[in-house]
Amino acid sequence: MSNQAQSRGTIAVIGGGVIGRSWTAAFIANGYDVVISDPAEGIAESIREKLPADLHGIPGKSFSDAEIAALIDRVSFEPDIAKAVQGVVAVQENGPERNDFKAELFAKIEPLVGKDTLLLSSSSGITPDIIGAKMTDPHRVVIGHPFNPPHQLPLVEICGTPDADEALIARVMAFYRGLDKAPARLNRPVPGFVANRLQAVLVGEALSLVDSGVVDMKTLDEIMLNSLGPRWASIGPLLALHLGGGDGGLHRVLSQLYNHVVPSMGLDPLPDDSIDRLGKIAEETYPRSEAADYIALRDRRTIGMLESRE
Ligand SMILES: NC(=O)c1ccc[n+]([C@@H]2O[C@H](COP(=O)([O-])OP(=O)(O)OC[C@H]3O[C@@H](n4cnc5c(N)ncnc54)[C@H](O)[C@@H]3O)[C@@H](O)[C@H]2O)c1
Repeated sequence: MSNQAQSRGTIAVIGGGVIGRSWTAAFIANGYDVVISDPAEGIAESIREKLPADLHGIPGKSFSDAEIAALIDRVSFEPDIAKAVQGVVAVQENGPERNDFKAELFAKIEPLVGKDTLLLSSSSGITPDIIGAKMTDPHRVVIGHPFNPPHQLPLVEICGTPDADEALIARVMAFYRGLDKAPARLNRPVPGFVANRLQAVLVGEALSLVDSGVVDMKTLDEIMLNSLGPRWASIGPLLALHLGGGDGGLHRVLSQLYNHVVPSMGLDPLPDDSIDRLGKIAEETYPRSEAADYIALRDRRTIGMLESRE
């Protein structure tokens, strides 16, 4: 394999910790060269040692030992950030989750890169307006928030500032699609973005149920594995509810089930206008005429997941 000849360009990975190393695997596996900038002592040795396992863990790819060695040759290390970003097609920042760190870093990088270089942050929850606060053009920075580990899981949440250029967002979406990722566009920034906000609610309740002794930890995990886990993984939580409402769809589930159950849990029922709006969105997004196809998909995937269990 002649890696250099096939290179799609160089990506600067700023911060080579858990996420930076995993992104590096995804980038080199998809034809990019990578320069990692991280001041940690021994970072190069540590990353080179761990990258083979990451590369073997990428879905849909299979590399021989020789190919793995050639891919790792695509990775270089440059502790000086100003040098690391010279001539790169993209910067993927994965440093400490601190407002000041990210804002100062992107302000420093901005004048050093070409106008087409993508400036991307893996931040788990800091919004792009904060990260771009010290830049000349704060709208250049776009969140590309992966789910750990990025070399394996498809999701990358994409979020620009409220005034971001649509053409830039489209380029970022195309960049991640080119890595076999599933970029998901957020219409506006919200702290924690979407996946971690969902996770926080569910995990918070799970921990509370275990901590208060309602269930033991293993039982809690089994409850998830044998119910919501496969159901949600097959078609997503909202389509699952919409289908669960039969001919009445999501509107029926919310008005006749959800609103009757949640008050006893200390939660507010949904107002009628929200139920009407959400019911309409569900009908438009997942038309009743296609229900049979969605049910077949749900069943195929659910059976596949259950039968794949060891
Ligand atoms: N861990 C996760 O599950 C996860 C998932 C998605 C996104 N993220 C986000 O990714 C980012 C990194 O998280 P992580 O879990 O990889 O953290 P980590 O602590 O494993 O890695 C951070 C790396 O940044 C390096 N670093 C520190 N100062 C630096 C500097 N001045 N220049 C360059 N590198 C520097 C550190 O040496 C370290 O290797 C955070 O913004 C986090 O919110 C994390």
